[in-house]
Amino acid sequence: MTAQTLRFGIIGCGLMAREFASAIQRWAHLPDMDVRPQLVAVADTRPSCLCWFQENFADVRVAVSDYRDLLASSEVDTVYCALPHHLHASVYCDIIAAGKHLLGEKPFGIDLAANERILAALAGRPGVFARCSSEFPFYPGAYQIIRFLQEGRFGRIIEVEAGFWHSSDLDPNKPINWKRQAQFNGEYGCLGDLGMHVLHIPLRFGWMPATVAAVLSKIVTERPDATGRRVPCDTWDNAVLTCEVRTADQRFPLLLSTKRIAPGEMNTWFIKIHGTEFSAEFSTKQPRTLRTMTYRPGRPQSWEVLDLGYQSAYAAITGAIFEFGFPDSILQMLAAFCDELVHGEQMRQPFGCATPQETHQHHLVLTAALEAYRDGRVVNLA
Ligand SMILES: NC(=O)c1ccc[n+]([C@@H]2O[C@H](COP(=O)([O-])OP(=O)(O)OC[C@H]3O[C@@H](n4cnc5c(N)ncnc54)[C@H](O)[C@@H]3O)[C@@H](O)[C@H]2O)c1
Repeated sequence: MTAQTLRFGIIGCGLMAREFASAIQRWAHLPDMDVRPQLVAVADTRPSCLCWFQENFADVRVAVSDYRDLLASSEVDTVYCALPHHLHASVYCDIIAAGKHLLGEKPFGIDLAANERILAALAGRPGVFARCSSEFPFYPGAYQIIRFLQEGRFGRIIEVEAGFWHSSDLDPNKPINWKRQAQFNGEYGCLGDLGMHVLHIPLRFGWMPATVAAVLSKIVTERPDATGRRVPCDTWDNAVLTCEVRTADQRFPLLLSTKRIAPGEMNTWFIKIHGTEFSAEFSTKQPRTLRTMTYRPGRPQSWEVLDLGYQSAYAAITGAIFEFGFPDSILQMLAAFCDELVHGEQMRQPFGCATPQETHQHHLVLTAALEAYRDGRVVNLA
């Protein structure tokens, strides 16, 4: 099959950029794709960050410290941008103005105003395709829950809970970085880091909260800098949101939690959907396990546990019995991005990356959470 090539540039060559580039390198893993990403350009203000890309990617022809030089290159069609949050609005707007397609990292703007700047730039360039990174729905267990939702299996929704929990910040001596400083990470703190991940599936199914109540916690307020001096760590560590979703025919609680300090949790993303006819739960903590319960009147209520294999959104060479992991979720997300960019609504499977409109809805929720906690009240978004 002759595949259409999408020539990618990466701006911001840190942790996520390497993960993303590695997914491009593994493209042969997906045998049926008619589109193929190719990494041709990288940009980072720290030249040392570029070496790994230059050494490992033969097609990288542009390696620059000023991202505007990458944007000026006619070799680049599409940009994956993984920068600290305070740079999202200005750089994403420059990418869009350059007419390049964009896979941006969350939160897609440091705050609501920044997000609205990005959306305004997109409105002015309708030919630019833009999506926001969110890979966890591509885990087989999460993807199966999406299928259940598409099939309308749940009956009336009783409650939905989604969370993303980390624990390494429990260590008070973990050095400070930009993600722990509000000037770079934003006032949202943990909500900006993890909120899009927990909201992607609920928003896709129309569950925009009508009300938001929140409890936010700052637990470790100082951390050592590179010299060992303790400096302020002024971002929210944990956030617990109680929302109500109101659709045309039902109301139900949507419980969201984003935590940097959840003891023992390495990188736990989960979703639980309970309904009157069917319920399903998945957590990356047990990535092979999908729990479901079908309600049968008069019969005992009993959860079933399914051992998942590698049932991915896009067919892969991996044997169906083997385990799926984080790098696989990035690969599947990249496939969804490329597929939707090239085929639009005719993409091969129906679940795409988070849309700019969904990032805006998530900013409305996050901003409401800050307001709700600050004022000690429930914020109405309906
Ligand atoms: N999807 C996910 O699971 C996930 C996980 C972690 C982080 N993220 C997101 O990815 C983004 C980046 O996070 P990260 O963990 O990769 O951060 P990082 O600190 O590892 O990398 C950021 C890179 O940007 C570079 N940089 C800074 N200013 C620059 C500029 N003006 N021009 C070019 N390069 C510049 C830095 O030198 C660094 O290499 C953030 O939006 C973050 O929220 C997403």
